[in-house]
Amino acid sequence: MHTDIDFRLPRTVTPRHYDIRMEPDLEQLCFKGFEIVKLDVHQDINMIVLNSLDLNIHSAELVHPDSGRHIAVDISYDPGAEQATLGMKETAFAGVWELRAEFSGELNDHLHGFYRSTYIDEEGREKVLATTQFESTHARRAFPCWDEPDLKATFGVTLVVDEGLTAISNQPEKFRRVLDDGRIEVIFEETMIMSTYLLAFIVGDLEATDPIDVSGVPLRIIHTPGKANLTAFPIEVAIHGLKYFSDYYGIPYPGEKLDMIAIPDFAWGAMENLGAITYRESDLLIDLDQATHAEIERVAAVISHELAHMWFGDLVTMRWWNGIWLNEAFATFMEIKCIDRFRPEWESWLYFGSGRNAAMEIDALGSTRPIEIPVAAPAEAEAMFDVLTYEKGSAVLRMLEQYLGENVFREGIRSYLSEHAYSNTVTDDLWNALERASEIPVSDIMKSWIYQGGLPALHVSSVSDGYLLEQDQFQYIGDASGTWKIPVLYRTSEGGGGVLLESKTQLNGGEDLVLNAGGHGYYRVCYNDELLQKAIGSIDGLMPSERYALVKDVWAGVLSGQTTVREFFDLAISLRYDSNPVVWNALLPAVNEIRHVASLKDRYAFASFILDLVSPAVEQLGWHASISESDLVRKWRGDMLRAIGVMGGATEMITEARGILRRAVSEVEEIDADVQSAALTIVAANGSMEDFAGLIKDFYIAENPQTKNRYRRAMTAVPEAEAASITLDMVLDGAIRRQDAAGTVALLLGHRDTGAGTWTRLKDNWGRLIDALGPSSTRRILDFVYFRSEPDIAIDIKDWLQDHPLSTSGRHVTQQLERLDVRVSLRTRVEAELESTLASLD
Ligand code: BES
Ligand code: ZN
Repeated sequence: MHTDIDFRLPRTVTPRHYDIRMEPDLEQLCFKGFEIVKLDVHQDINMIVLNSLDLNIHSAELVHPDSGRHIAVDISYDPGAEQATLGMKETAFAGVWELRAEFSGELNDHLHGFYRSTYIDEEGREKVLATTQFESTHARRAFPCWDEPDLKATFGVTLVVDEGLTAISNQPEKFRRVLDDGRIEVIFEETMIMSTYLLAFIVGDLEATDPIDVSGVPLRIIHTPGKANLTAFPIEVAIHGLKYFSDYYGIPYPGEKLDMIAIPDFAWGAMENLGAITYRESDLLIDLDQATHAEIERVAAVISHELAHMWFGDLVTMRWWNGIWLNEAFATFMEIKCIDRFRPEWESWLYFGSGRNAAMEIDALGSTRPIEIPVAAPAEAEAMFDVLTYEKGSAVLRMLEQYLGENVFREGIRSYLSEHAYSNTVTDDLWNALERASEIPVSDIMKSWIYQGGLPALHVSSVSDGYLLEQDQFQYIGDASGTWKIPVLYRTSEGGGGVLLESKTQLNGGEDLVLNAGGHGYYRVCYNDELLQKAIGSIDGLMPSERYALVKDVWAGVLSGQTTVREFFDLAISLRYDSNPVVWNALLPAVNEIRHVASLKDRYAFASFILDLVSPAVEQLGWHASISESDLVRKWRGDMLRAIGVMGGATEMITEARGILRRAVSEVEEIDADVQSAALTIVAANGSMEDFAGLIKDFYIAENPQTKNRYRRAMTAVPEAEAASITLDMVLDGAIRRQDAAGTVALLLGHRDTGAGTWTRLKDNWGRLIDALGPSSTRRILDFVYFRSEPDIAIDIKDWLQDHPLSTSGRHVTQQLERLDVRVSLRTRVEAELESTLASLD
């Protein structure tokens, strides 16, 4: 990291308004640009420092609009700082000036800045479109600018495009005219005052749905030709979201129109450009009849999340990237609230538990970080977008909301937004607003959650007239000693209550103590043996969210070595007849982890344990969805079938799965998407090279983004070294898009049987791999590296990454490697305990 570089811009000059004209050339894959930036020069200056990266600034001058004075400049670049310096031949006095500059750049294929995306059109020809991704710090790759979130300005965008192309930007089109050379000049309305990272331009041969008027806001979906049949659901979600958020925030939508654009190559899920939200295709376009519940839910979540940002993020923006959690945690929190209203039957807050748990997993590592930390370099800004920002951030907001009350919390949010509209904030501004609304010292409570990494463990013991609650820090390895102000909700036979736990506290008596009532808390509950047995004994009295939390708390104990595998199995068996799907969401990943570390000799016995565990639910659910079923039950069936067919390896299930796929293809029967998806995974996970060949073919011809993803994932599941090798080649040669490259490699590397071979091949092709991944998503290749816990391979991986550092935050790598360490030691314990434990269960 270039810690000696000052990445921040001087504040001697600040922008007020940009007029930007962009001329993308989709054939030469480059663009020309021209800008006039109206500047406030706050003191006499001889130079201007601004952000510019990978741009050629052909000419620049400073103009004083009143006097007409021109000042010529020398341009020099500092690519390390991502800046350009304009050295002036004469002094510019304080006042309002214009910077005029002409520049050009490449339409790159790195999925950031002004970049190109390609697709095959209906006639089979490759087409190019140009689009932008400016967050965190990539606007500077498209036009010279003051690329810091608090240097807000208004923008007037002009796009010059070939005839017949669609041009989109944040604002509605104002007018257009034909130029002498036949190209079209499209001029957009001026934007509201906003940060550079929210600007967007999209140009290509695209189709748009007819605008729908949502309380005065025209809403459209823009996509590559021929996909209009995938737009009904996203429109429905967006209509709901626009209304929901205007109402919740008590402020009208801040844009003038809303376009949601599906881009075939997209680094992230979606990006909240004001009025021109861009999406990865699979996160926007969907055919409800062919999609699984998880796929549908994902689309609804992503759309709702980005809409939440139109206010929280776009209208009110963090001052600097250290505060990005404010943006992302809040949008994640609001996304759930919004969907909970859209489809209450999806029980979104219940499933929010899995996000919370994912954050707690990373937060239990010594290499975790506080939610808010200082950020200097652009790479540090990008590294902030992680599970701690999103999932921990949103979980602590949810915990706070439950503690303050939903109405009080909303009042605080409304006053925060209206007070800071069109401006920038720091974390304390939010706490101050919530403090005013609630009259509770929010800032003081939240400090321990925001500026300190890690999470607490609650310890409880019985004392004569009740219970004693204490806390320490929960870690898998090591023993840090943080303390938190924990809003604890609890329940006993005598009723419920809440306390703010600081060091220790006593709760009055009552039988059947349940801690973390409702499961909203961001902490682990460590039951001692006696209380754990009691909890297991009275498990029916727990709410589903509490059973979820209990399973995850006990599993966390297994990972840290404080709880035996045997105790976990006792709990799992007691939940065998549980008919709430979320409980299985907690159990199955843990069972899968054991399956990954179980030694060869134990595999058979463990598979039959799994069969026993999941059979009651599988028998109840069967292979056929009925019309009267809820969406969650459909999803649950898919999950359970996958469990029995992949982990249980039940032969008759594999045969059944093959039959399902055949019938689905021949369309003799309409088969529920979750069943189809499960059948596909089962066949792939037990598949041969012949099955693999079929999957590749299906991958190429898949008709919608969700099924394409399913085939790609299924390809990584085939347990043949050759299949893994071919799939990796498809990543390396670009047959699998760069946007999916890291995710595909991650799955290959995590495969129980072929992952070790993939590791060797990754090393052999390291240079090509790094090229294929591109800069934006490299770190994701390590998402499942924790499955590579064979001790010698784990050591090799660590050594290799030491010598071949990834172009991503070192912290992220360290965290994944520490996760791996936790599994290396889990493997040792499972090897020692599993056989005898399984034998003792019979
Ligand atoms: N602002 C982010 C997109 C982003 C992420 C930009 C990282 C730059 C760096 C956007 O609002 C977002 O959070 N998208 C998520 C989806 C969401 C549902 C969690 C994503 O892209 O995964
Ligand atoms: Zn976001």
